[in-house]
Amino acid sequence: MEQEIKFQDGESYEQWMGVWSQLVGDQFLDWLSPETAKTWIDIGCGNGTFTEQIYNQHDPSEIQAIDPSPEQIDFASRRIVSKRASFQVGDAMDLEFEADRFDYATMALVLFFVPTPEVGVSEMIRVVKPGGVISAYVWDVFGGGLPMEAISAQLRNLDIPHPLAPSAEVSGIHTLESTWLEAGLKEVEVKQISVNRTFENFEQFWDITTSSPSIGPVVSKLPADVGHQVKTMTQDALGVDDSQTVTIHAFANAVKGIV
Ligand SMILES: C[S@@+](CC[C@H](N)C(=O)[O-])C[C@H]1O[C@@H](n2cnc3c(N)ncnc32)[C@H](O)[C@@H]1O
Repeated sequence: MEQEIKFQDGESYEQWMGVWSQLVGDQFLDWLSPETAKTWIDIGCGNGTFTEQIYNQHDPSEIQAIDPSPEQIDFASRRIVSKRASFQVGDAMDLEFEADRFDYATMALVLFFVPTPEVGVSEMIRVVKPGGVISAYVWDVFGGGLPMEAISAQLRNLDIPHPLAPSAEVSGIHTLESTWLEAGLKEVEVKQISVNRTFENFEQFWDITTSSPSIGPVVSKLPADVGHQVKTMTQDALGVDDSQTVTIHAFANAVKGIV
């Protein structure tokens, strides 16, 4: 599938994915258990949702956050206004920072968007000091961990193609582990992180989830009757009527290692 997933709207991202990201991010940061007053780079920071968690919970002495999307960077840089936080447009495959600059490099829900994940990892290693920590988490794409899996499953049932992150194969827990080990990182650990999010009703789940830049453009372009079919099939599969809350389970794989 050639269609590209583009992140261009910080506000709608917050409702759709930011809430999910923070649910995973809390558990991920507990597991990472970083020291306070350290230097960080948050790569693929998007609208700054995870950057804000690091900033609020781990009191970094400096946090540099980069993302290729100028719209997301604009949103993020209004989110945290501090001399200790800086946001700029950049690419994980070519970081514009000198070697050995940071204590922690991290990617939250990003590695599967990096065209060559190994290059992204080697760039993280380059900019982190010896003894520093490289970490990442990604939805378990092929294990069914994505928050939009309930809708994606019905698109697959109807043979309707929809885009996946370009490096989705890196999201398996064993692939993440071997990527970190092959990059020469030490004390590599992996963990699956599970989260639940409850929506007020099916309509709210549908509206928010179809604002995703992966399935959203596909669903909105379907002929009305097919779109209705996907929606009805999703609701039936979730087994909820219009008045019930909808709780969605999603899971991500996390990895960390020492330089
Ligand atoms: C799902 S969002 C995650 C954003 C944020 N880290 C979070 O936890 O909510 C994926 C982000 O990866 C960014 N991205 C895509 N390709 C990238 C690349 N080559 N280098 C850095 N970031 C990239 C996108 O622009 C997008 O903001």
